[in-house]
Amino acid sequence: MTNQRVLMTAVGSYLPANVVTNETLSSFVDTDDAWIRRRTGIAQRHLVAEGETTADLAYNAAAKALANVGLTGGDIDLIIIATTTPDNTFPSTATKLQHMIEAKNAIAFDVQAVCAGFVYALDIADAMLQSGRGRRALVVGAESFSKLLDWEDRTTCVLFGDGAGAVVLELADDAGDWGIRSSVLHSDGAYRDILFVDGGPSSNASVGHVRMEGKEVFRHAVEKLASVMDEALSAASMEARDIDWLVPHQANVRIIDAMQKKMGLPSDRVVRTVEQHANTSAASIPLALSAAVDDGRIKNGDVLAMEAIGGGLAWGAALVKFGRPS
Ligand code: UT7
Repeated sequence: MTNQRVLMTAVGSYLPANVVTNETLSSFVDTDDAWIRRRTGIAQRHLVAEGETTADLAYNAAAKALANVGLTGGDIDLIIIATTTPDNTFPSTATKLQHMIEAKNAIAFDVQAVCAGFVYALDIADAMLQSGRGRRALVVGAESFSKLLDWEDRTTCVLFGDGAGAVVLELADDAGDWGIRSSVLHSDGAYRDILFVDGGPSSNASVGHVRMEGKEVFRHAVEKLASVMDEALSAASMEARDIDWLVPHQANVRIIDAMQKKMGLPSDRVVRTVEQHANTSAASIPLALSAAVDDGRIKNGDVLAMEAIGGGLAWGAALVKFGRPS
């Protein structure tokens, strides 16, 4: 009996060169390094340069992911970019990436689920590959989130950064227990006013700025991420002790630590990049995954738990046995 499943066979990432430390921020925002570190765990963030766009970040991450698995754009059937900061309102940034990597045969589109964008895009790609829309997909989280920040609002502007991460997904006919084991998504528009952008094409024809009730979002994050992780574990018939690595959305180290405790995982089984990257929205999970694969912590065959929550509210979790059977 065949066991068809979608494998995650490679990852790549890219961070813009410009690093802005908390000290530098403090020179033009009414904040200080001690507050930012204590309340969020963030020490610095990477920000795009003038003229550098989300598509550029996505291209660099995607090119690395493809090179890491020996594929080219021509091998890809599906490209999904999770982003809230597209280069243009339309066309999608994914079609731009499709052209840049010469993925002539690929279906390409963007997904907008803010910080949960990567787990949403992963779920959609998994379903599309399983239903015969192709055999190989690129799922990219890419953000120039700094473009949405109000640099006079210290409660939000210190929290975010820019970057991109990409994974290659491949349909396998005899996958055993490898690949995407479960994926669970949720949305609740009743909470759309606690984290949003005060602009958009159909509301006021502007780009707008991020607005957030931080404490409220924090409360929902801890509660909803714990609950959706339980659902993902149950859907995969797994328990938290079966997880090798928690690769969470990187919004706040206090949320990450709370999840680690709720899952009963040792601290050194959690990937934390929020200190260096800040919150890169849809890019944060693949950026964290890439960092831990590159430094040798995450290995072929490790079981990963990913979770994220963001504006909407939208949230989700996925469990993946990373790599491919050797
Ligand atoms: O990725 C999408 C999901 N987003 C999240 O998960 C974010 C969730 N929320 C959070 O991470 C936290 O709520 C924040 C980091 C945003 C804020 O931390 P907090 O502990 O909830 O602080 P607070 O908003 O209650 O603010 C506490 C104090 C306030 O002063 P008063 O009113 O107590 O005098 C703020 O004015 O800290 C002040 N404050 C700052 N001080 C220095 C707020 N921002 C800053 C700042 N620098 N940047």
